[in-house]
This record gives sequence, C-alpha cells and structure tokens, in this order.
Amino acid sequence: MIKSSTRSDIIRWQQMWDFILSISILCTLSKTVAAWQVDLAPTTLIHRVEPDSEHRFLGNTTVPDYFKILLSDGDSLIIGARNAVHNISLTSLRENRKIVWHSSAMDKHSCGSKSKSLEECQNFIRVLVKKNDNELIVCGTNAYKPKCRTYRTSGESSYEQVGPEESGVAKCPYDPKHNNTAIYTDGKLYTGTVVDFTAREPLVFSAPLRTEQHDSQVLNDPDFVSSYDYGENVYFFFRETAVEHINCGKARYSRVARVCKNDRGGGSFLRPDSFTSFFKTRLNCSIPGEFPFFFDEIQSTSEPGLGGYKASLNYNERTDMIYAVFSTPQNSITGSAVCAFKFSDIIDSFNGQFKEQASPMSNWLPVDLADTPSPHPAKCVNDSKLISDRTLNFIRRHTLMDKAVPAYGGGPLLLQTSFVSRFTQIAIDWQVPAASEDNLNKVKYYDVMFVGTDDGKVLKVINVGDKEIKPVIIEEIQVFDSKTTIVNLKVYRKPSEGIEKLVIVAEDEIKTIPLHRCHLRKTCGECVALRDPYCSWTENRCENSMEHAQNVVTGKHPACGTSEPPIVVEEDNILPTHIPRQPANVDPTIPNHIDAVPPVGGPLTGASQSAPCSKQYSVAEMAAATVVCIVLSIVIGFFIGYRASLWRNKRSNDPPTYAMDKCLGTPKMQNRYNTDPQLNSETQHYFSPEVQKQLNVVLNLTPKTQNLPNGGVESKVHKVKKVYL
Ligand SMILES: *[C@@H]1O[C@H](CO)[C@@H](O)[C@H](O)[C@H]1NC(C)=O
Ligand SMILES: *[C@@H]1O[C@H](CO)[C@@H](O)[C@H](O)[C@H]1NC(C)=O
Ligand SMILES: *[C@@H]1O[C@H](CO)[C@@H](O)[C@H](O)[C@H]1NC(C)=O
Ligand SMILES: *[C@@H]1O[C@H](CO)[C@@H](O)[C@H](O)[C@H]1NC(C)=O
Repeated sequence: MIKSSTRSDIIRWQQMWDFILSISILCTLSKTVAAWQVDLAPTTLIHRVEPDSEHRFLGNTTVPDYFKILLSDGDSLIIGARNAVHNISLTSLRENRKIVWHSSAMDKHSCGSKSKSLEECQNFIRVLVKKNDNELIVCGTNAYKPKCRTYRTSGESSYEQVGPEESGVAKCPYDPKHNNTAIYTDGKLYTGTVVDFTAREPLVFSAPLRTEQHDSQVLNDPDFVSSYDYGENVYFFFRETAVEHINCGKARYSRVARVCKNDRGGGSFLRPDSFTSFFKTRLNCSIPGEFPFFFDEIQSTSEPGLGGYKASLNYNERTDMIYAVFSTPQNSITGSAVCAFKFSDIIDSFNGQFKEQASPMSNWLPVDLADTPSPHPAKCVNDSKLISDRTLNFIRRHTLMDKAVPAYGGGPLLLQTSFVSRFTQIAIDWQVPAASEDNLNKVKYYDVMFVGTDDGKVLKVINVGDKEIKPVIIEEIQVFDSKTTIVNLKVYRKPSEGIEKLVIVAEDEIKTIPLHRCHLRKTCGECVALRDPYCSWTENRCENSMEHAQNVVTGKHPACGTSEPPIVVEEDNILPTHIPRQPANVDPTIPNHIDAVPPVGGPLTGASQSAPCSKQYSVAEMAAATVVCIVLSIVIGFFIGYRASLWRNKRSNDPPTYAMDKCLGTPKMQNRYNTDPQLNSETQHYFSPEVQKQLNVVLNLTPKTQNLPNGGVESKVHKVKKVYL
C-alpha cells in the first residue's frame, strides 16, 4: 500500500489535509474570533433600494460593456467600456461626453484569424489618464492589438483626437478580463499589465524602463489591483504566485511593490532599460494567533487617505493609510476580510532586510544587514546611473523584502465566511464625524467602509472597538441582483451642494445610492440602535447630523428612555413613489424614500423573519452554529476520506505504468506551476470534478433549508450560511 503511494498521491493527500484543516480552522475560528469580533449581524438589511432611473447608467444593453472606473475627475466619472469612454456626471449619472473608438476592420479581421470571437475582437478601453487639464491618454485592447490615443476635450460635449495613434503594448492588456493598472504622475505613465498576446509575460512599465523579463522572482503571474503615487515612489498593489512558498506547493500572496519616480535605469551591469528600484513585499492580512490564518489574495484597494482604523478624537491620531479587501483562494473555503495598512508600515518594510534563497532547495531567509550594500538599495537615489555594479548585482537578485507589512490594528477589520459570497471592492468615507458616546460636545471621527460583494450587495461597516477590533455592519444593501458582481465603488461628496452618495459599478450598470438612510428611523431608540455615525436623533427625527443623541459604540442612549428598541429592522422593497421632496440637506436629485416605506420597527414576527442574520446571535445560537459547523466538517472530512480511499484502491489496482505516467511524469508535476489556465485547471481544484460536485451538494444544502419553518435544527443550519465572524 505504502509502496504504491506515489508522489502525487502524497501531494493530493496534503492538499486534502490543507482543505480539511482550513474548514476546521474556519469552524474553530468562528468560536475564537467571535470573542474577538462580535456584533456581526448587520443592524439593517435592505433588500432592495430602487433608485430613480436617472441614477442609473446602463451603457449598451445588448452586449457586455466591462465597465471600469478609470478616472474620477471632480464632478465627473470616466468609465472605460466597449468601444467607448463615458464621461458621466456624478450628480445625475447622465453622460457629459463620450469617446467612441472602434477597432479598424483590419485589426478586427486579424483578431478573428487568431481564433478570438467577434465579441472579444472589440476595443475595450482599459487605460485612461489625464495628461494635463485638457488632454487624456486613452488605451484600449483594440481587438487584441493594444493601441493608445490622445484626446482633447472639445466644445461643450465632445472630444477630438490629437496626434497619432500609438502602440499600447505594455500599457494596456490584450484581453478586457485581464487585471491591469495605470497611473500618470510627474509627466510619466506607469502601467502594470502584460506585454504579450498569451498574457504570460507580466511587467511594470514606464517608458523607457520596465521590470526584468522572464524572472519569476520579479513578477510571477500577477493580478494587478491598483497603483498610487505616494512620496517619491509609485506603489503597485497585486497578488501573485509566491516564489518563496513554491517548495511547499503553489500559493498566491498579496503584495505591494514600488519603483522610484526618478529611476533612470542602471549603468553597465543591469540592462539599462530595467528599473533599479523595483522591490516588493507581502501584505499580511491574517487572523493573529499561534497559527495565523491568512487571507492571501488581495482583490481591491480603496484610494489612499488620511484616517484611522479606529475612531479618532483629534487630527493627530490620523495617518496615511489604505484599506484593502482580501479573500481566500478560489478553490478553498470562501472567506473574505478587510485589512488596512499604514503607509509608514509599508515604508518600514522597504527600509528593512531583504529575503533570499541561497540555493534552489534552501529556505527563504532574511539577508544579513552586513551583506546588504550601503546605502540601502531600496532607497531612491538622485541618479540611478551612478549605482555601483555591486549594488546593481544585489538588486538584480533581491526583489523581495523580508518583513511583511502588518495589518493596521493587528488583523482584519471585518471577516466573513460564507458559502455564497465574497468581498470584491471597498470604498472609504474618510473620517465621518459622529457624536461621541460620552460627551455630546465632542465629536469622534470614523472611517466608514463600504464593502461590495460578488452577489450584488454593499455592506456599510465601521469599527467601534478601541483596543480590540469590533466591527459593526450598519447596513447590508442588496443593490444589484445576487448574480451581479460589484466591480467598483466610490464615495462622492460635493459639500457645496449637500451632495453625498455612493457610486456602485457593476460590469454593465452603474447606480448611485445615498450614503445613509437616517430618515427611515422613526423613534429615538431606532435611530440610536442603527449605530450609524451619519445619523443622530434630534427632538423628533433621525437626521444626518453629529450634534444630537447618538451612541455608535453601544447603540443605546439615555435620551431615548429605557425601553429597549428592536435592534434589527428589515426593509423590503423600498420603491420610489411620487412624494414631495424633503428640504434640508438631502441631495435634491435623490428620490426620497421616506414615506414609501412601511413604518419600520415593532417586534420581529415569527415565521416571516426568514433573514438568517436578522438577529444578533445569542450564546446558544452561536454554540449551535459551531456544533453544526463541526458536524458539517466531519461529514465532509469523512466523505473526502472515503472518496480518497476509493481513489487509492483504484490506483493500486491499475497497472504500475499508468501510475508512473500519471504521477511521476515530469510534465504533470511542472504543470502545477504553469501559468496556462487550461493546463492548470486540473490542479486548480483540490478535488476531482465529481467530488467537487458532491461537495457542492453538501455545501448547497444550507440555502435549500430557506423555506423550512423557523425553529429546529434546519434554521440553525441556515444561520451558519452567513456567519459574519
Ligand atoms: C468630463 O465632462 C465634463 C463636463 O463636460 C468636463 O468638465 C470634464 O473636463 C470632463 N472630464 C474629462 C476627464 O474629460
Ligand atoms: C481578475 O480579477 C478578478 C477578481 O479578482 C478575477 O475573478 C479574474 O479571474 C481576474 N482575471 C484574470 C484574467 O485572471
Ligand atoms: C502576520 O501577522 C500576524 C498577526 O499580527 C502575525 O502573527 C504573523 O506572524 C504575521 N506573519 C507574517 C508572515 O508576517
Ligand atoms: C540629491 O539631490 C538633492 C537636491 O538636488 C540634494 O539636496 C541631495 O543632497 C542629493 N542627495 C545625494 C545623496 O546626492
């Protein structure tokens, strides 16, 4: 038996163990983390916010548009789409101007002859930057032959092309689904993308410099997420296959990399057209503990801003930082997290030690400071042409920093394990003032996080904890249907006109919703129980203000009397009707839903309350959830073990040559690290398709219990589906 177990068997077993471990870790975490992050059911579930049609932008309704926010420029939003750029007014979501750019018939024809479909052979605009006040650089996939153009605003409502069309290779991807990033700063365009048709050769590029070619230590199958200009560097956020983990199996890690803006390339040793300042480090978004649990795949970042992961009382407590959304790998159990990072911690990591692997079989270890050239190679220098050969040689072999960037606050600010959804996007309303819980005259500032999911929802979250992290999900809003992924989020404010709203972008649709719905609360108790920093209770209404009764930390306030209000209110079908508009500081263009909503509140009534998270968990419920979770993992574990033993039996009955071919054949082994999605798809999954299918059946049991009457084990199982850890 043991003899017949080949190397790939061992790897399969390892992978299975990893999987079972991760399930049990998540299950036990639900206990330990519950102590660490409590109050995780949203205080409000909003099933449908139906905006007025003028706050909806649809683009082309018959074909996929692949919307992508490329620039937000004052009161307008520039969206890249299929054969078009839309300049949209943020106040009305109406189109201001438009660029229409179709690929030429010749480019489409040659695209078709590379066996791409008609739909793929369109021009998807993926890069747009502002060169100066009236010129834009625009790059599109141009039927798998990337091109860039320069446009100038012309007249009231159009654009005109200026100058010649240029190649967009290394600036824009070939495929609209590819994850690229671009930023224009100090007169230079910086891009992170791929340079070839097959998307095998990634790079960071800023003419004339690029990252080293064919070097997996530089970039290893990255998915770029965003890029920002900070200080004397340009920073790139992405996830990639971790070269330091390759000896123990394939893993994706989240990274931040940077280059110096004044890099001019090296002198003699390094290729003169390579960056001398490209370094990267890992972002650590993990649940602390003896064995930290990592959320390794960065999905998106907010824009950088001045804020704090916890409430701040004064200006000095703020710091330059960025929020990001992470998830577990696609083929593992679905978990998502929000982590924040201080720029000072990122810079510390780049000022620290490098990581290196002395030989291909040895471990990755920090480089002794004594062996690191001085001045520190990751510091920007005035003239990179003067860097010594010794330092250039060091730089060439060391791109990775040793110390991962720690999460600000020590760990994730929000966690979710769910079989149905993942976080995809995040936008921050920085430092929103709220009445302080202990002193009416004091104001506390909160960073309000808006988190988008792949099932059309937006969560509005704050951290009310001080020493430890205590997230509160204020609202969970179903903005799009549950099959729609949110691809961009943006907070838009125009204080001069009292406009503040959230812009939500899906691949084919854009919507805006107000940042808060204070006015839906009709009593003091409801208003305070919402724990929304935007809202507070004056004498007779809940309004957007920071000066009256509010307690974001506990959701209770003496001004509201002693009667305990229901904490959760559920609104269904908030449909706009023709209601006279409210005066005051409400965005006049936003339909007022206030009176359209049936009076909220009142005790929750039995069976009609099917929402799984419509209550805060009692200890008993939490315990039951944990038990169900553990039972589930035992069942899955047993099932996997059973299947695996069937495999093994089958395998040992096979002729030995078959086993040898399948398991020791080098091509198969190498494919684990191959970037070709087709070759890789097999190893992407821990389980064979049939097992996967069965597993899905097990996992899908939970939603099916939805219709069962409340009470009994079923409803407990149902609750597990959406545990916010
Ligand atoms: C978008 O359109 C508005 C209104 O016409 C204009 O003021 C603005 O400059 C445009 N933005 C860009 C980046 O073209
Ligand atoms: C781009 O990123 C998205 C979201 O993280 C992912 O689903 C998609 O597969 C990525 N695209 C490619 C071509 O890898
Ligand atoms: C990541 O952060 C956690 C929690 O602070 C810590 O325990 C862990 O050692 C860190 N891991 C790495 C690789 O830095
Ligand atoms: C780099 O240039 C700046 C300004 O030109 C100068 O102040 C600084 O001393 C220079 N640094 C080095 C290391 O030469």
